[in-house]
Amino acid sequence: MTEKKLRIGVLTSGGDAPGMNAVIRAVVRTAAHFDMRVYGIKTGYDGLYKGDIDEITADDVSGIIHRGGTILRTARCAEMMTEEGQARAAEICKVMKFDAVIVIGGDGSFKGAASLARHGVNVVGIPASIDLDMNCTEYTIGFDTAVNTAADAIIRIRDTSTSHERCSVVEVMGRDAGYLALWCGLTGGAEEVLIPENPIDIKSVTEQILRNRAKGKRHNLIVVAEGIGDSVNLSKEIERVLGIEARGTVLGHLQRGGTPTATDRMHATYMGHMAVEAVKNGNTNKAVVFRSGKHELIDLTEALEAKREYNPKMYEITKILAV
Ligand code: F6P
Repeated sequence: MTEKKLRIGVLTSGGDAPGMNAVIRAVVRTAAHFDMRVYGIKTGYDGLYKGDIDEITADDVSGIIHRGGTILRTARCAEMMTEEGQARAAEICKVMKFDAVIVIGGDGSFKGAASLARHGVNVVGIPASIDLDMNCTEYTIGFDTAVNTAADAIIRIRDTSTSHERCSVVEVMGRDAGYLALWCGLTGGAEEVLIPENPIDIKSVTEQILRNRAKGKRHNLIVVAEGIGDSVNLSKEIERVLGIEARGTVLGHLQRGGTPTATDRMHATYMGHMAVEAVKNGNTNKAVVFRSGKHELIDLTEALEAKREYNPKMYEITKILAV
């Protein structure tokens, strides 16, 4: 009797992140290597409900390792947040006879995966988010590309800010976490980074600008995490209080697109490969994470535990160097 081929469902969920395509490629090709079948679930958990699911072969993932976005498309699915929706999603996985589902996404997507696991579906999570806000892993796929894209934009804004002797306020993404902003601030040479984890009042910001102007600085650069709020109004407030010309720029979804960096492609490829190996070994209800320089598998429940803390040292260095 021929052995039954394992069937894996794969989906990308939540905000897209550069490198998701590289994960899909690694999953499909590793599965092909082990003689498994892979089914692409379109538009995340939404596609599960709609039965928008097609088999993907090794050929289908040619030429995507360097492409931003996700060929499977993605969505945020409200239904998956309800107990009834989760039970229905699990039922569809059973109808599809999935031996496991690989979920690529951030903490919301992992919560969806954990609910599938509670309903008896074998799952493996792969962390992909530009926010790097998951405590379980020191790396989330897409972060490096987003930092590089934002840092590049910030350096361009610096040029015009210097020419006009202005104060530039640049807002970066990160939802309610400041990691992306801290990296952008440190690598962009900002003199202040405003993050939700370490709120600072406007008075301290304006005082800092005045101190730096007194030392001879001709422009100012403030990076703001979106979790802090309206950076365009903040720039208007700085202009009103100090009489220094200020401009606000919201980088927005620009940071989510583009060719993934080699770092993102490396993590994506390694994690995608490991996820399929985990399915092959029956080692499911896990997340693939990166810790202390190594990729490893941890329990999905552990992956959801705490929220990531920001690194105060990064903030301190930014401030010390911004003179
Ligand atoms: O989680 C990734 C992220 O880009 C956050 O940084 C941001 O808050 C959010 O997604 C934006 O979501 P949407 O694309 O739904 O506007």
